[in-house]
Amino acid sequence: QRYRDPTAEEKMNPFAEQEAWEEHQIGKATLKFGSKNRKEKHDDFDFVFEDQIEFIQAAVMDGVNVEQNSIESVEESAAKSAFEKLQSDRKTLPIYPYREELLQAVHDHQVLVIVGETGSGKTTQIPQYLHEAGYSQRGKIGCTQPRRVAAMSVAARVSQEMGVKLGHEVGYSIRFEDCTSEKTIVKYMTDGMLLREFLGEPDLASYSVVMVDEAHERTLSTDILFGLVKDIARFRPDLKLLISSATLDAEKFSDYFDSAPIFKIPGRRFPVDIHYTKAPEADYLDAAVVTALQIHVTQPPGDGDILVFLTGQEEIEMAEEILKHRTRGLGTKIAELIICPIYANLPTELQAKIFEPTPEGARKVVLATNIAETSLTIDGIKYVIDPGFCKMKSYNPRTGMESLLVTPISKASANQRAGRSGRTGPGKCFRLYTAYNYYNDLDDNTIPEIQRTNLANVVLSLKSLGINDLLNFDFMDPPPSEALLKALELLYALSAVNKHGELTKAGRRMAEFPLDPMLSKMIVASDKYQCSDEIISIAAMLSIGNSIFYRPKDKQVHADNARLNFHMGNVGDHIALLKVYSSWKETNFSTQWCYENYIQVRSMKRARDIRDQLEGLLERVEIELTPNPNDMDSIKKAITSGFFPHSARLQKNGSYRTVKHPQTVQIHPSSGLAQVRPRWVIYHELVLTTKEYMRQVTELKPEWLVEIAPHYYQLKDVEDG
Ligand code: CDP
Ligand code: MG
Repeated sequence: QRYRDPTAEEKMNPFAEQEAWEEHQIGKATLKFGSKNRKEKHDDFDFVFEDQIEFIQAAVMDGVNVEQNSIESVEESAAKSAFEKLQSDRKTLPIYPYREELLQAVHDHQVLVIVGETGSGKTTQIPQYLHEAGYSQRGKIGCTQPRRVAAMSVAARVSQEMGVKLGHEVGYSIRFEDCTSEKTIVKYMTDGMLLREFLGEPDLASYSVVMVDEAHERTLSTDILFGLVKDIARFRPDLKLLISSATLDAEKFSDYFDSAPIFKIPGRRFPVDIHYTKAPEADYLDAAVVTALQIHVTQPPGDGDILVFLTGQEEIEMAEEILKHRTRGLGTKIAELIICPIYANLPTELQAKIFEPTPEGARKVVLATNIAETSLTIDGIKYVIDPGFCKMKSYNPRTGMESLLVTPISKASANQRAGRSGRTGPGKCFRLYTAYNYYNDLDDNTIPEIQRTNLANVVLSLKSLGINDLLNFDFMDPPPSEALLKALELLYALSAVNKHGELTKAGRRMAEFPLDPMLSKMIVASDKYQCSDEIISIAAMLSIGNSIFYRPKDKQVHADNARLNFHMGNVGDHIALLKVYSSWKETNFSTQWCYENYIQVRSMKRARDIRDQLEGLLERVEIELTPNPNDMDSIKKAITSGFFPHSARLQKNGSYRTVKHPQTVQIHPSSGLAQVRPRWVIYHELVLTTKEYMRQVTELKPEWLVEIAPHYYQLKDVEDG
């Protein structure tokens, strides 16, 4: 266990100032760890180094420093139109002095690796520079982002800077949302979307430049893109390829792209003081909240905002609640604290809030997931609170189980996080773990996603691109071969590939859907069971995750009753989701109805959008939209056609056992079947929290397994007793 319980004293007096902290100036910290770590210190804490200070000084003299800009008199800046202000802001970014040099390098080389601190202007400026230099006349300038929120927010920013309407010249494309038009010349998109574009345009002919941004994130899609863009660059000499990244391990990218030159944008970093806790924290969420309040109460307002790294939406909402509660208790004794959450599913209209300047006399506390580590830059942050965790996907290729677990971050992440506080002035980073933990327990780097994920989706996409020999695909870091085999096995079980590993007709249809293969298979199979109308509603509802029902603290009983209504007759979670959707549709998509039933109207609207798109895709794969609302068995059989590998059987002791690759699992308490416990179920996904839980569960007849997947189940698998 990395964390201890707080002492009684600490519990009583959360404001006991600095008690929990051991103040480590960078220099002090090293004395404790002997010579090995002293060396490490230089590798890890490169915050304060002479050359950077020199650079900052040089920048001040060149008149490109942000500080100088902000001294500008109030009247002057008010006189400028917002647009002019944006233009002059662009010139203060660290990348600006290198504009010409960069354009020259792009001109001279087909592939360029670009490295620069987060916030230096890579994402927002480089595509604009290229546009200004005329590249957009030859084709689109595409820029990929690992995260949807980043793609959207950066596109919005760049459209402002270019003075155009979002979706016109500048647009973005993320799964289930295309905000581009024929006019679009600068296109931000998730890496997964560019991957899908390869399916329709294998040489990316409509692009003149592709910038694979945030390359250091090494998401699965980014890693696959590396291989694909490297390949097309060979026969498209006119295509410019930029690989940009925030960390300094650019050599690896350069090596992979046949020794492509590296363009370094010198960063501006101010010194960052790192503080560690003396002993591990038992409850990092609480510790983070207490630390944020300590800073807020003890530091003068207006001297800087706070950024807290949490692992996900639930934690962020919880922290928000606690913060609100505690600051309310302090009343007017403290300055205003503006709480800004940011996570992947945060509604667009709330995202802009984090970029709004903090009003005078107040302080902003940004509660963020990893998204604020490198993808988004929020100005004005002076304090970073780093509990040391993130949510990370892991995959067991033997059992095929995927889980999303709260995991300690890597040293590289910890340093990125710390660096976020030193962008516009000296900063402080509070690590809610000990220096010993940092040096001894954290890995140096995060393992690339490709090595810890289910590859079925990617393998299906690659197969439909005609790439069959996956073992010899040019991976930067190859996935474990058993994970590749497992993916092929699943695709074979789903009849997406034949026994030679070639794509089948069903596989080709499945690849059209931007969904996991099991969901796509469920949709393709709904043709046979004549219930495609219901199945795409279920698929859309499953795609928005578990943010459909809400449960206000003071109305939990009402909310639970409303929810149980949809589960009447123990229909199972899939059918309950269908009932929610159809009932909402019957009210003509009424918002009022959502309120009355404790359903999030925003999630429902998103489900409707997704459903509309799935309906369009049905047409593309020539499946007729067929309603069959009363034939529950057909609907369940279609679901089973996609999800038969996820079957489980009730045990005598009340828990479940998965049928293939036996493992003990439970029905998630939020399921309508949690109390019912049918003998046989299929589930949508497994989530590991305190136990291994099945989420979204439906009862099935065991003989269906043999009927639907005779190649996968034998009679003996489904015999009771
Ligand atoms: O990509 P990189 O991290 O190098 O920087 P960037 O995302 O291009 O950000 C450059 C500047 O634009 C930052 O100082 C941000 O404050 C600003 N920006 C913004 O105000 N709103 C956004 N949605 C994105 C960037
Ligand atoms: Mg960026």
